[in-house]
Amino acid sequence: MQKLEVFGANKLKGQIKISGSKNASLPILAATLLSDKKIYLRNLPKVKDIETMIYLLKSLGSKIKFEKKKLIINNLNQNKKFASYNLVKTMRAGILVLGPLLAKFGYAKVSLPGGCAIGTRPIDIHLKALSKLGVRYKIIDGYVHASAPEGLKGSKISFSKISVGATENLIIAASLAKGATILKNCAIEPEIKDLVNFLIKLGCNIEWISKRTIKIVGVSSVRQTSYSVMFDRIEAGTYLIAAAVTEGNLKIKNIIPNIIKTEIKTLKKIGVKIIVKKKEIQVVGNKKIKSLNIKTAPYPGFPTDLQAQIMVLLCKANSRSSIKENIFENRFMHVAELNRMGAQISIDGNKVVVEGNINFASAELMATDLRASVSLILAALTAKGKSTINRIYHLDRGYENIEKKLQKVGAKIRRIT
Ligand code: UD1
Repeated sequence: MQKLEVFGANKLKGQIKISGSKNASLPILAATLLSDKKIYLRNLPKVKDIETMIYLLKSLGSKIKFEKKKLIINNLNQNKKFASYNLVKTMRAGILVLGPLLAKFGYAKVSLPGGCAIGTRPIDIHLKALSKLGVRYKIIDGYVHASAPEGLKGSKISFSKISVGATENLIIAASLAKGATILKNCAIEPEIKDLVNFLIKLGCNIEWISKRTIKIVGVSSVRQTSYSVMFDRIEAGTYLIAAAVTEGNLKIKNIIPNIIKTEIKTLKKIGVKIIVKKKEIQVVGNKKIKSLNIKTAPYPGFPTDLQAQIMVLLCKANSRSSIKENIFENRFMHVAELNRMGAQISIDGNKVVVEGNINFASAELMATDLRASVSLILAALTAKGKSTINRIYHLDRGYENIEKKLQKVGAKIRRIT
């Protein structure tokens, strides 16, 4: 099994180019199932989750190839409606094929997503909303068997809780439904806006009518299109924190700073110097990090996907901080590992108290999920000596070329195969 060796502690300096967004690419790839024409996608990140989604689409009959830097998807003869456990178990976003398959064929059999380290992550909100569009479903042997014998019919739906995946599944499904669908209490993550922009380019009729309400008027078919996926705001946030935590000086390029306003504001409050330009941010680390109380929330709040990374930075603050995790019930798997490196973090339900003034010590570590893995790298970058991070397949799900990007800015990090 591959692992990473990190030798701290040097300051990161230089520039890092941010890749395309994993979380925007996944629903966009699922949405290509709506089409029977060619679709050209650019700026997809080269990470494991995207590979898995491509395998899933191929297993459903999509013809897919890379040409230069574009992914070409041809769904002319796409006719399978079965998404197997093997492909959906490793990646929860596999459930996003349910909406488009139902919209296209009126039938789908999709495995329930596997268990997940960061919480139970059910799909009840997806299923309840789809049933309002006319879908009937049964769960048999771990599979959702869903059908809409008369096709999907537009409806008014108010989500009981803000869910990124359910909002995406429903927007995609409603795009081919008969009549108009109004979705209220939608997630408004930038990746959802990116999905909507893609669908509009594909010929779908979608408009935001207020902050969390969207109107979709079903169309009978869609057209050929090409689209370039947005930048990965979580990758960008991770490297902003990497610069801050190593007291380095990094330019983070290929981004739209406006989309990560909350992260920039939070880092500024902590005492990190940030210079915002049109498509880049320069971060200048500061020895004096201030403590802060943070809570994660749906966009535009502070992202749960940066909770583990900001925790590492708060360990360096001048006094005690706290973080409340409001999205997932069990997303503190990194705490035990950070404490093994000398952190003093205590968990109380969905809140952690983070003691400041910590100097991390190197250690042999175990990655537990995608963002937890990267938080261990951040801590290891500041610790003198060699840290080894095991189980990095979690990391490879969502960070493109992470060790190469870090090596380029002066980190001593290498992959052991
Ligand atoms: C997406 C992101 C993930 C991010 C999360 C929250 C992708 C591929 N993944 O995950 O990186 O951490 O948003 O920003 O984009 N829930 C239910 N029932 C449901 C659906 C969700 O109870 O049917 C709960 C979840 O368990 C969780 C919360 O709602 O506690 C939010 O989940 P959701 O927004 O759906 O996250 P994902 O779409 O899975």
